Amino acid sequence: MEEKQVVSMPRIGEAAPEFKAVTTQGDINFPDDYKGSWVILFSHPADFTPVCTSEFMTFATMEDKFAEANCKLVGLSVDGLYSHIAWLRTIKDKIEYKGMKDVEVKFPLIEDITMEVAKKYGMIQPGESSTKAVRAVFYVDPKGVIRTILYYPLSLGRNFDELYRVLIALQAADKFSVAMPADWRPGDDVIVPTAGSCGVAKERMESKNDLTCYDWFFCTRKLGKDQVMDAILKKS
Ligand code: BEZ
Repeated sequence: MEEKQVVSMPRIGEAAPEFKAVTTQGDINFPDDYKGSWVILFSHPADFTPVCTSEFMTFATMEDKFAEANCKLVGLSVDGLYSHIAWLRTIKDKIEYKGMKDVEVKFPLIEDITMEVAKKYGMIQPGESSTKAVRAVFYVDPKGVIRTILYYPLSLGRNFDELYRVLIALQAADKFSVAMPADWRPGDDVIVPTAGSCGVAKERMESKNDLTCYDWFFCTRKLGKDQVMDAILKKS
C-alpha cells in the first residue's frame, strides 16, 4: 500500500513546531533553546551549491547585526553533518566573493537527512523539488510564535537587506503598537490605529501635529529612526 505523506505548513501566528536536531554547533531543542530572543530558521536546498554559498556568506557576515537586534540564526538543509562541516570549511578556507573572505559561519546548521524537520515546516515543496528544501525563512518571536514566513525558489537567492528590514519592522510594530506601510524603513512614518471617522481624524490632526490623516481609515505618525533603533538594538 502506498504510504501517505503528511505535509504540514506552519502558519503565521501559530507556535513554531518543536523539534530536536543535530547541528554544526551541537544539539538544539527548537524553539525552547531560543525563548527570549528572536530567531530566524531558514532552509537552503543543498551544500556545495553556488546560490546557497552566496547566501551563507552574506548571512554569516551580517550575523552580528542580527544579534544586535536580539535575533539568532539557524540554518537547515537535508544534507548530513559531515557535508555541512566540509562545505562551511571550504567557504572559510577558499571562497572570496564580493569582498567577503575568510567567512566563518558560527550559527548552527541543522542536518536533516530524514527531512523530518523540513517536512514539518513545509520546506519540501514537491512542485519545486521533492529532494531539496526550498529557500524558506521563518521569523519566530521571543515567545516561540511564528511572525513571518517567506519562501523563495531554488534559483533565487534571498535579499538580506529585506530579511533585516522585516526583523526591525516586526519589532518596531510590536514596541510602538503601530503598523508599517509599504516599503517602510526606520525613520519613515508609521500607521496608527484607524481614527474611526473623518471628524475624529481631523480632531486628532489638530491636537497632535506629528499625525497625518489621508482619510478616516488611513492615519500615519512620525517615528524617528533613532527612536526605533534605540528601542531595538542591544546596547553592549
Ligand atoms: C544553488 O544554491 O546554487 C542551487 C541549489 C539547488 C538548485 C539550484 C541552485
